[in-house]
Amino acid sequence: MSRRITQLIVLILQSIACLSLQNDTLSAGVIIRDPETLVSAKQDYKLGFFSPPNTTNRYLGIFFSFSEETVIWVANRDAPLKDSSGAVTLSRDGNLVVLDGTNRTVWSTNLNTTSPVDNPVVQILDNGNLVLREEAAGDTLWESFSHPTDVLMQGMTLSQNVKTGKQVLLTAWKNATDPGIGSFAGGLEVMSGTPQLVSRNEGWPHWRSGQWNGLIFLGIKLMFSAYLEGFNQVKNDSVGNFV
Ligand SMILES: *[C@@H]1O[C@H](CO)[C@@H](O)[C@H](O)[C@H]1NC(C)=O
Ligand SMILES: *[C@@H]1O[C@H](CO)[C@@H](O)[C@H](O)[C@H]1NC(C)=O
Ligand SMILES: *[C@@H]1O[C@H](CO)[C@@H](O)[C@H](O)[C@H]1NC(C)=O
Ligand SMILES: *[C@@H]1O[C@H](CO)[C@@H](O)[C@H](O)[C@H]1NC(C)=O
Ligand SMILES: *[C@@H]1O[C@H](CO)[C@@H](O)[C@H](O)[C@H]1NC(C)=O
Ligand SMILES: *[C@@H]1O[C@H](CO)[C@@H](O)[C@H](O)[C@H]1NC(C)=O
Repeated sequence: MSRRITQLIVLILQSIACLSLQNDTLSAGVIIRDPETLVSAKQDYKLGFFSPPNTTNRYLGIFFSFSEETVIWVANRDAPLKDSSGAVTLSRDGNLVVLDGTNRTVWSTNLNTTSPVDNPVVQILDNGNLVLREEAAGDTLWESFSHPTDVLMQGMTLSQNVKTGKQVLLTAWKNATDPGIGSFAGGLEVMSGTPQLVSRNEGWPHWRSGQWNGLIFLGIKLMFSAYLEGFNQVKNDSVGNFV
């Protein structure tokens, strides 16, 4: 056999080995170590460790498979790892945790689990959502779409609970090098019974969309109802959420 053909066969075998290692699910007892990743079934999204430009700090995040620079979600945004000895796993109580090289927990999904979760699994879905659920029951216990960073993805909802005031907000990075919680945040705010999109800088109003009249936000001049494809407002009285 010529050397060329041998090389080709080795290459093919390597790519098969690589494909078979791809997995979108993390189960209890498994540890993903930097630079290992979870890859969504259609291979569009990855969960793994990355460094923003001009820093060696490591963060667990979700990014497009084709470009580690397109980060859509960050876990330990205010608790960077100083080296690449980080790992991610499911803790005994069923939380997804990021550990540093000394096994210290630097980030956790922080679920208040009264009873231990049976067979927790974490899966990266084809829409970029990271979901923690009980394998058998299938109930979602936690999902990244309910804890956004600075990117609104299709299928995500921004909401405010009018009873508690609690919002699901997008929060900007500090700067391009530091994904820590920055000074700008934006989301839905219910004012005198109607929702508006509002962004704030250190809590001070920076921009608002005007009231939602059922079809459009009144303050956005170029917003015609035709632009609304994909935008939905749902009032949920049972939980007091406007989404
Ligand atoms: C993918 O993950 C599932 C659940 O953790 C496991 O059963 C399966 O063996 C894994 N497959 C590969 C190829 O690692
Ligand atoms: C990284 O540093 C280089 C050199 O100082 C600079 O030109 C570039 O804009 C920086 N990139 C970011 C994203 O800050
Ligand atoms: C961290 O935990 C893993 C798995 O339990 C263990 O193998 C490793 O020795 C621990 N590392 C340190 C520094 O304690
Ligand atoms: C869990 O409970 C603690 C203390 O009661 C609270 O601060 C925290 O917000 C709770 N976490 C969640 C995810 O509900
Ligand atoms: C980004 O923000 C951090 C924290 O505020 C700061 O230490 C750092 O100098 C900033 N970097 C740039 C490039 O502005
Ligand atoms: C309202 O919230 C309840 C409880 O979370 C849920 O079961 C129901 O499907 C929601 N309704 C809508 C229209 O979203």
